[in-house]
Amino acid sequence: MAVLPIIVAPDPRLKAQAEPVERVDADVVRLMDDMLESMYAAHGIGLAAPQVGVLKRVIVVDVSKDDEESQPMALANPEVVWESDEDITREEGCLSLPDHYAEVTRPSAVRVRYLDRENEIRELEADGILAVCVQHEMDHLEGTLFVDHISSLKRNIILRKLTKSKKLGEVVSA
Ligand code: NI
Repeated sequence: MAVLPIIVAPDPRLKAQAEPVERVDADVVRLMDDMLESMYAAHGIGLAAPQVGVLKRVIVVDVSKDDEESQPMALANPEVVWESDEDITREEGCLSLPDHYAEVTRPSAVRVRYLDRENEIRELEADGILAVCVQHEMDHLEGTLFVDHISSLKRNIILRKLTKSKKLGEVVSA
């Protein structure tokens, strides 16, 4: 496994649409493992392949708390097959927007169909933080960042700060 550098916004690679994987083969499993290792190294709870420069529809999540056993999940070609009418508003962050947070409103529960690491079709029922995290990561596959859900004024402030930090070398972009 390898820790991959995580791309920091603004970056055109974070705005692109990711392509479905044909099947979950050994290369995709290796990508899933590298993404999990990279996510843990960065202390994140989720990561999408475009954040490591791979435009494939693969996401990983682990929302277990520090004192709980880890629950790594890897999903290829995830699609929402059901979402709740009820919404949830939570503060979100992103490894591609380090040190910036904003409240985002999303459906509070979703059912997601995906391919697991054995290339089997599975469904995940998620609510609470897992639902938020999975939807946030799936957004990345469409080139959408959490700041795209907030006002353009707030978004531009965050992106301008990140651009400045990159120029100063405070954050390292891949
Ligand atoms: Ni993110």
